[in-house]
This record gives sequence, C-alpha cells and structure tokens, in this order.
Amino acid sequence: MRVDDFYDRHPINPHQVLAAVARRRGGDLARLSADDLFEFDQDHYGGLAAVDALARRAAITAASRVLDVCAGLAGPARFLTSRRGCGVVALERNAGRAAGAARLTRLVGLEGRVRIVRGDASALPFREGSFDACVSQEAFQHIADKLAVLAGCRRVLAPGGRLAFTDWIARARLGERERARLAEWMAATTLQSIDSYRALLGRAGFVRVEAEDVSDEWRPIVRARLQMFRAMRRETAARVGEARSHDYDQLHAFFVGLVEDGKLGGGRFSGSA
Ligand SMILES: C[S@@+](CC[C@H](N)C(=O)[O-])C[C@H]1O[C@@H](n2cnc3c(N)ncnc32)[C@H](O)[C@@H]1O
Repeated sequence: MRVDDFYDRHPINPHQVLAAVARRRGGDLARLSADDLFEFDQDHYGGLAAVDALARRAAITAASRVLDVCAGLAGPARFLTSRRGCGVVALERNAGRAAGAARLTRLVGLEGRVRIVRGDASALPFREGSFDACVSQEAFQHIADKLAVLAGCRRVLAPGGRLAFTDWIARARLGERERARLAEWMAATTLQSIDSYRALLGRAGFVRVEAEDVSDEWRPIVRARLQMFRAMRRETAARVGEARSHDYDQLHAFFVGLVEDGKLGGGRFSGSA
C-alpha cells in the first residue's frame, strides 16, 4: 500500500477530530483552544506524555526552533508550542493531512507559532542548520531510505542540535511474510532493530546516541487502540464502506498480534548533531 492511501483512509482524520471535540462540547466548536483537541489529534502511542518524553530528550525550550518531521495533523506540534513556548515547523507529505493540520491550527489560533509545510521527509526543504531540535513519532517506518531521513535531520540541525524520535522496530522473530504484510497493509518498510537504528544514527553523523526499547510501554496501548477503533467501527464503515472497514479491522488485529507476540515493538532514539 502507498503511504498516502493509508493515511487518506485512516480513522484518525480532521473530520473525526472535530466530530469528537463537538460531541465532547455539546456541539459547540466556537473559541477552541489547542487543549480541546489534544485528546483526539495525536496519532502516535503514549499521548501527550510521549511528546513530552521526546521534548526532554530533544532539550526543547521556548527559544528552540523545532522541526516536527512527518507531523500528521500537527497535534504534537501544537502541544509543543503551547507547553514549551517554542515555534514549530510541522512537515507533512500527505495533502489531506497537511490541509487538516493547517485547519486545526487556525481553529485554535496557533497559526503564528506552528507553520505547516507540505514536503517529503527524505528531502527536507530547509537550509542547513535551520533548527535546534527535530522530533518525529511513528513515521519513519514509512520511509524506505532511513539513512537519508536521518542524514537530512542532521543537515538541518544547528551544531549541537538534538534529534529525538520514536518508531516501530522489528524484533528477532519477525518473519519475511509478516514484513510483507505490514508493507502491504500499513506501508511500513525497511523496519529497523534497536541496534541497526543506533548504527544508522552514527552513520548519519549523530553523536551521544541513545536508544531505548519501549515495546513494553506500547503493548497495552496498541491493545486499547484496537478496542477504540472497534468502537468506532460503525462510523468508519459509514465513511469508507463495510468491506474496507472489515479489512482494516482484520489487518489491525494481525498487527496487534505481532506486538503481543513480541515480534514488533517500539524504539525511542535520540542523538546530537
Ligand atoms: C503515524 S502518523 C504520525 C503523525 C504525527 N507524528 C503524530 O504523532 O500525530 C505518520 C505521518 O507521517 C506522514 N509521512 C509518512 N511518510 C512521510 C514522508 N516521507 N514525509 C513526510 N511525511 C510523511 C504520514 O502522512 C502521516 O501523517
């Protein structure tokens, strides 16, 4: 599956975010703040605490120029700017998600602090040394050339700048057929292990590299997320059709099974330029 097709059909989308916020606020979408969206606009594991963990590893302060690579609906970017006071550039390649990110950011009045840029993470459209911190969550799994994206982050960071990201990692027993199915279903490609990611970060020029296995943290979260998608199934079927919703459910269950079996997990990585 192509990555854009995967996100064009994804159950977390601007429409669903606003529908959920409207339900929570009794239909009132006037005068929204970023906080009103946070329960619904984060498309990664571990919610706001996971963004905070990256912000700490990336040493983000109010003075930091921050790049969120593969920013989705820019939920993490809005969180960073509203809690840390920094300006954030949110880079996203998918047209619908970039437009949705811009719309949600305008709705909460943060367009002066969060700039949405449509572009590809493997060819970052920024000058050398433009940022003090790069962050990314659960997105490099989609990019075949991991070294290119890591080297690109290294290039756009100022000397001493920090990269911190989380991603899916392949563990020892993940088989070739399972990898092929992950590529077909969720456009996941060239999945790395903790050790191979660490080596790639070194080759991309990062120093003080740290790598943590967060698989045990993610396991209960993916389990709960499968239940959440199942609870939204009627809504999803109405939007994408019964057959596609059924396929999504089956494949999602397959993916959660890999996590339960310890074949697929999560890693959190950081390094200095
Ligand atoms: C799992 S979502 C994460 C979004 C966001 N980081 C968050 O945590 O809410 C992955 C995002 O990466 C984007 N993406 C995938 N490949 C990309 C690429 N090569 N360049 C830029 N964005 C990409 C997808 O379109 C999707 O929005």
